[in-house]
This record gives sequence, C-alpha cells and structure tokens, in this order.
Amino acid sequence: MPERKRLVAGNWKMNGLQADGVALARAVAARVGERHACELLVCPPATLVTAVGAALAGSGVGLGGQDCHAAASGAFTGSISAEMLKDAGCSHVIVGHSERRHGHGESDADVCAKAAAAWRAGLVAIVCVGETRAEREAGQAVEVVSAQLAGSLPDGASAARLVVAYEPVWAIGTGLTPTSADIAAMHAAIRGRIPPATRILYGGSVNPGNAAEILALAEVDGALVGGASLKAEDFRAIAEACR
Ligand code: 13P
Repeated sequence: MPERKRLVAGNWKMNGLQADGVALARAVAARVGERHACELLVCPPATLVTAVGAALAGSGVGLGGQDCHAAASGAFTGSISAEMLKDAGCSHVIVGHSERRHGHGESDADVCAKAAAAWRAGLVAIVCVGETRAEREAGQAVEVVSAQLAGSLPDGASAARLVVAYEPVWAIGTGLTPTSADIAAMHAAIRGRIPPATRILYGGSVNPGNAAEILALAEVDGALVGGASLKAEDFRAIAEACR
C-alpha cells in the first residue's frame, strides 16, 4: 500500500435492518468494483456486521465496527469487544466518535483504552477528535483537538494501525462544514502530533457536492462519511472525488 492511500469510510451509525444493510452493501460493492482510487470501508451497526461482510466479500471494500469495549470479554452487558469485531470480519473500528464522547460521556482515557483494545485485537483504530461550536467560537479548536489526541492515543501508535478522524461536533449531521482554510489548518496541526504517514480523515457533512474540495486539501487523506454513506450513489461519488 502506498503511503497515505486515501480512505473513504462510511459510518452508518444506528441505521439499517438486515435487508437494507445487505442491499446497501451490495450496491456499494457493485458501484466501486475493484478499481478505485482510494480504500473504502463501511462501518455498519453491530447487528449487520456479519451480513454486510458477506455481501462485501471479494469487493475490496473493508468492514469496520463503530465502537468497542476496552475489555476482550466479560460481564459488560450490551457491549462488544474488539476481538468480537475482528472475529466477525472487521479490519477497523471507530473509537471516540463525538456521539460516544458527548452522548455517552466517554473521556479521552476511555477512548485511549478502546484504541489499545483495537490494537490488541489486530484492528486499525479510527480515533475521532473534534471541537464543539462553542470551543471553535472561543478560538480553542486546535487546543481542544490537541488535548484529545494527547489523551486518546495509546503509546505505540503507528500509521499501520491508526487513522485519525477530525470531526467538528458542530459539523456532524448539520450540513455545516468549516471553511477549507480551517480544515487545512486543523489537519496541519494534527499532522504534527501523530506518527508520520498516519492518515487523517475529515468528517462532518461530507457530501458529493463538497467532497472534491475537501479531499483536495493538504493533509486531508480521506473522509469519514455519515448520512451520505447511506446512499450508495452518494458514497460512490465521494469516493470518486479522491481522484
Ligand atoms: P455526517 O456525514 O452525517 O455529518 O456524519 C459525520 C459523522 O459523524 C461520521 O462519523
């Protein structure tokens, strides 16, 4: 794999029953074929991981989880371990998504333990960071994201097993995005704080209309896509924007 091959990852969040998920996975696989300019990944809800993995088999599209527990197994009702995701066919897992940090009170230390669990299981950890609107307006965005990185990345990080996703909280699901200059500035700041050649994705209201501009920015190595990843045609168009 060339250094920093672009990665476009779809985070399906809590969407899709079996039939929808399999149909979407098949549509993604059919549209991308094997000749795409970037690496592609879909992260379905846990109930769909196995079925989506089967639907994607042979397509070259990867499979990821949306979260994992820090422990490998045990009395943690409702949780899923990184080992379980690996066993179900995943290569990646998202940790520290803002909907976990803010909706479930996860701290940097929690995210750090989950990233370490991902590595223990042999998964690539996609570690999410991002400031709130109030933090951006207060001029603290870089400071906040730097602190999240410092607290969320376990020792031993390397480009082979880490992807960082910059997702401003206020841009997720809102149709709002930072200016290109703000995205570039944040990615440059992140670049100086992570191991060389680690990929940095932008996430937050990426769609077929803005993907080309965002993906052309320096230090943007791909996208973490929410809503638009639920439509195979939009996801394909975003992947095409990597060219
Ligand atoms: P949207 O693309 O729907 O804004 O979601 C982004 C996101 O949270 C991806 O993890």
